[in-house]
Amino acid sequence: MENNRPNWSSRAAFIIAAVGSAVGLGNIWRFPYIMGQYGGAVFLLVYLILILTICFIPLMAELATGKTLKKDCVSAYESVNKKFKFFGVLNPLTGILIASFYFIVGGWIINYIYVSALNLKIENYSEYFGLFTQSSVPACIYTLVFLFICVFFAGRGVKKGIEFANNVLMPMFAVLLIGLISFSLNLPNAHLGLEYMFKPDFSKISSEMFLAALGQALFTLSIGMGALLTYGSYIKDDKNITKSAYTIIFSDTLFALMAGIMIFPAIFSFGLEPNSGAGLVFVTLPYIFSQIPHGNIVSFAFFLLLLAAAITSGISIIEVPIASMVERLKISRTKACTILFCVISIIAIPATLSFGVLSDVTVLKKSIFDFLDFITANLLMPLNAFILCIIAGWFLKIKGNMFLQNKIAAFLFDIGLKYIVPIILFSLMYIGLK
Ligand code: TRP
Repeated sequence: MENNRPNWSSRAAFIIAAVGSAVGLGNIWRFPYIMGQYGGAVFLLVYLILILTICFIPLMAELATGKTLKKDCVSAYESVNKKFKFFGVLNPLTGILIASFYFIVGGWIINYIYVSALNLKIENYSEYFGLFTQSSVPACIYTLVFLFICVFFAGRGVKKGIEFANNVLMPMFAVLLIGLISFSLNLPNAHLGLEYMFKPDFSKISSEMFLAALGQALFTLSIGMGALLTYGSYIKDDKNITKSAYTIIFSDTLFALMAGIMIFPAIFSFGLEPNSGAGLVFVTLPYIFSQIPHGNIVSFAFFLLLLAAAITSGISIIEVPIASMVERLKISRTKACTILFCVISIIAIPATLSFGVLSDVTVLKKSIFDFLDFITANLLMPLNAFILCIIAGWFLKIKGNMFLQNKIAAFLFDIGLKYIVPIILFSLMYIGLK
């Protein structure tokens, strides 16, 4: 079996796929709105500290576990100890839940591509966003189209598509973002947005904010559901993964910061609210585009490139359940993709409808969509990352000196993996559930 497992054609192919997994809707859609809900600059500060320090550890641990064991999540955990199989299964299950709300947002993007292509004139963007998300049938169709695209690419083997998306489309996306940033920074009162982003108000610190920052950091780096473990399992033995980890963290942080600097000055300039939630980017950005000459073309390009980023991430989310199904159930990739399409649809359709006809249905006082986002980012991903650190540090004996030259760094890594990161993850989950 092991010899039949896919391998990355080169180190670059792996880095590209891993960066493709990391940079996605988490950076452009989720990061600004979560930051807006938790008070701006303080959140950014905590987020950056987490991403540059402790997140490196579970990121490396996931990659190294994948590279060492060369198995899908379930088989990997089971090979360490038969009793760990259940923990392994949690990963693809988390993936299915993440996909069920992530793909809805992917569907929104497709709608905005369509709207910009037709150059439809919209009077009030926040009203439009509300009407669109409440529109049961069209919204569901868009969700399913996005799901279909990801499943289709994943089913066909993704190397070429992902490499193209990342080598060509991502640099184009970065250039477009820089253009939009300079537009945004030149708007009246743009400095208020920068202050909101970079001048921390320490009175806003709270334990929930820490949890949200950690959830966002894990989410944006794709840690905590086996995506990196699965991608890591396709790495050949002679490849060093440290540089890859730095590249993932650097590119991901860069895209998140660019998204923030593009959006917050515009929000303040147009007198919008930074804490308006999941619709933030879908209301603010179309508004900015409507102010720019030939805005519909810019808008079309922006959402198309965002779609490419979302697809490369979406593929990595479903790769985890696909790999587990193919290797555990011994079924073909096509069959696994078909089953997954059905399973995700069953959860994603009610979640899509939770903006409209099912808006009264709540789980823990949250709509189905918000619940899926909350439960995965604040509970399941930290939990999976916690279990991974314990297994990698205590059972698999992954050590810092396997990939870090500097002795002190390697020592800190070992302590972090075995004690500090698990304790932080556990305490934050505990706070989050209280
Ligand atoms: N990191 C991606 C983003 O920021 C989303 C993502 C892809 C993800 N794969 C993942 C999130 C695995 C959690 C786990 O858009």
